[in-house]
Amino acid sequence: MSTGRIVILGAGLAALSAALRLAPRPVLVISPEALGQGASSVWAQGGVAAAMDPADTPEAHACDTVNAGAGLVDPEVARLVTNAARSRIFDLTEIGTPFDRTPDGGFVLSREAAHGAARVVRVKGDQAGAQIMKTLIRAVRATPSIQVLEGVMASGLEVAKGRVDGVRLMRASGSQEITLRAPAVLLAAGGSGGLFAATTNPHRIAGAAIGMAARAGAVISDPEFVQFHPTAMDVGIDPAPLASEALRGEGAHLLNANGERFMLAVHPDAELAPRDIVARAVYLQSKAGLRPALDTRHCLGERILTEFPAVAQACARAGIDPTRQPIPVAAAAHYHMGGVETDDTGRSSLSGLWACGEAASTGLHGANRLASNGLLEALVFADRCADSIAAITPEVTALEVELPDLAAAPLPDPQLVQRLRRAMTLGAGVVRDTVGLMACLREIDAIENSQPDCTPLLNMTATARLIAYAALNRQESRGAHFRSDYPQSQGKTGQRTRIRLTDALPS
Ligand code: SIN
Repeated sequence: MSTGRIVILGAGLAALSAALRLAPRPVLVISPEALGQGASSVWAQGGVAAAMDPADTPEAHACDTVNAGAGLVDPEVARLVTNAARSRIFDLTEIGTPFDRTPDGGFVLSREAAHGAARVVRVKGDQAGAQIMKTLIRAVRATPSIQVLEGVMASGLEVAKGRVDGVRLMRASGSQEITLRAPAVLLAAGGSGGLFAATTNPHRIAGAAIGMAARAGAVISDPEFVQFHPTAMDVGIDPAPLASEALRGEGAHLLNANGERFMLAVHPDAELAPRDIVARAVYLQSKAGLRPALDTRHCLGERILTEFPAVAQACARAGIDPTRQPIPVAAAAHYHMGGVETDDTGRSSLSGLWACGEAASTGLHGANRLASNGLLEALVFADRCADSIAAITPEVTALEVELPDLAAAPLPDPQLVQRLRRAMTLGAGVVRDTVGLMACLREIDAIENSQPDCTPLLNMTATARLIAYAALNRQESRGAHFRSDYPQSQGKTGQRTRIRLTDALPS
């Protein structure tokens, strides 16, 4: 099937922002779920980092970004993104995002770890992702050039003579694949959290986007850098609800089962130490059976119910009253810093393919993403991708695309998916070593061999393999990548990983 439409894979903040920016060029958005469901962006609590305070500057924001990234951030990219932050916030305001405002018309700003200033623009307390997405979805629905196919997912990219010229699509409920030709493909279908047993990401966000690009031959950067969030709620719910870092910005304490505020002994900034440090400390407490928990009673009291409604609702679902007891927490896979390597216009190493959002690796996050820089990067690079695609795509009219009814085809065996998640958590989780990573790679081989024709599973295992292989080869600890057998960094500045899937396949 052929279409004049630019195809955007994914339906989160990056995908929808790019679709709007491309209007009136005809765009097809591929959304595995109904719009507004299943994208990580909808669950983002903290907000968007931007130097909105008159006393703050984009330069200071860039500097914090570089420092948090542990020697792997591209400073040019940090400058470019932080310089664009204010205007992206004004753009979102213009289309109706109800950012929290101060009585004098300024923006309410939260503080999060490793930011030198209160710099996170928020919406209705901890509802930033959901509210921004609501605004974008309204705008997308009102834009005639954008067609959204809901309940459909991509299973692969079509490559001819080194150029991506289409996508393979199937129904998200399982069907045979069809091929759709496209003048340009933008991959904005999220990260990889769902590859791990404990994650804050929606289930479907499990490495499919990165794996698809890798299987088509794209260069992947820094796949070993997976960020674990220190305060995912440990309440037996999968995926784990988030207890936003903004709670620690308000003064919440991390306590263990003995009532000790254990971060005091770990870092001078205690609970507001860089995210990787807090995540490792929480992980070690859990591993020692000391049941870490986040106590907001002294700093927020009843205010948690109105100022952090998403956290309060998740607590209620789990039968926890945060005004009376600390919230049990654990480290959980939250954000993939690595991804499809792109240049500063969002182009990947394959012509015809662009990437943005968590699927991309732009060089902004390095080894450890600064809190609330994820939504910001998605907004800035969605526009850059759209402008780059628009420059080579004529404003044509295009027909609506209809997916024919197709016979069912197998989806990943749920037991294999659970096996993969366990293997990744055990071998490629918060603390890694040679033995565990090699065992993880062997398990990935076995899982692939158990369902070798299932492309959605192979997309997931491709990303899992790249994470484990690159983690095995990085014989140092840096940012979110911690090796108990190589606990030191090899120098202040490090080398980024650039890898193709063929480099990581068993010989
Ligand atoms: C949070 O609210 O803690 C998450 C923010 C982020 O990951 O950027």
